[in-house]
Amino acid sequence: RQMSARRLMVGGNWKCNGTMGFAKSFPADVLNKLKFDPKKVEVVVAPAALHISTVQSVLKNNVHVATQNLSLTGDGAYTGEFSIAMVKDMNISYTLTGHSERRTLYHETDKDVAKKTKLAVDQGFTVLACIGELLGERESGKTKDVNNRQLNAIREECEDWSKIVIAYEPVWAIGTGKTATPQIAQDTHAEIREWLAANVSKEAAASVRILYGGSVTDANAAELIAMEDIDGFLVGGASLKPAFHQIVEACQNAK
Ligand code: 13P
Repeated sequence: RQMSARRLMVGGNWKCNGTMGFAKSFPADVLNKLKFDPKKVEVVVAPAALHISTVQSVLKNNVHVATQNLSLTGDGAYTGEFSIAMVKDMNISYTLTGHSERRTLYHETDKDVAKKTKLAVDQGFTVLACIGELLGERESGKTKDVNNRQLNAIREECEDWSKIVIAYEPVWAIGTGKTATPQIAQDTHAEIREWLAANVSKEAAASVRILYGGSVTDANAAELIAMEDIDGFLVGGASLKPAFHQIVEACQNAK
């Protein structure tokens, strides 16, 4: 990859995994020992909400903490939710939105995801907005249409893309061990950048980071990060393992 102005990013999405023991030991044993230059690589972890304050209390490094989701509603009679004001109050300024599991299992629509993205951006958050196609959609040649539809919904809500990071996660690659080849990922990332140039601005196309997610491991991170339009990763399973260290290292060492 040519040296670009874009800072790389590695996100660790812990999903609904972990114990209090893990929330203490993993930051101490792995995250606090990561070696990276925060000017080159931004590292963010998204533990389950219940574990966030424990993780924060152990973290010493330049690793940031994110929520995996957020509520559109504010404080009040919304049993089971937590508001963005509560998240801010915990000194958190990163969140994911639109993860495929939120879309598929919890029926979040493109519009819901767009509104959550807008809410978080307006509150000063850096938002890792997730998009990506299902297996059947890729097989029937609809990848670009699906990504553009999800991106268009965000654009209808958000004018300012300076705090948006796109996480392209083909659903068929999530948790399956089937990573997109570097070329497939690169081609899709290039399409997303073209969409940004045509629909947001040339500046956004040059500056918005596009992360790849889906079965990223220490074994494939280096070849993926070598691609021109891949600006880092959103990692699931491997973010719960010491291999996360090697994934961050691959980004730190990227040319
Ligand atoms: P895996 O890395 O486990 O495939 O998960 C990817 C993901 O969904 C990250 O958000």
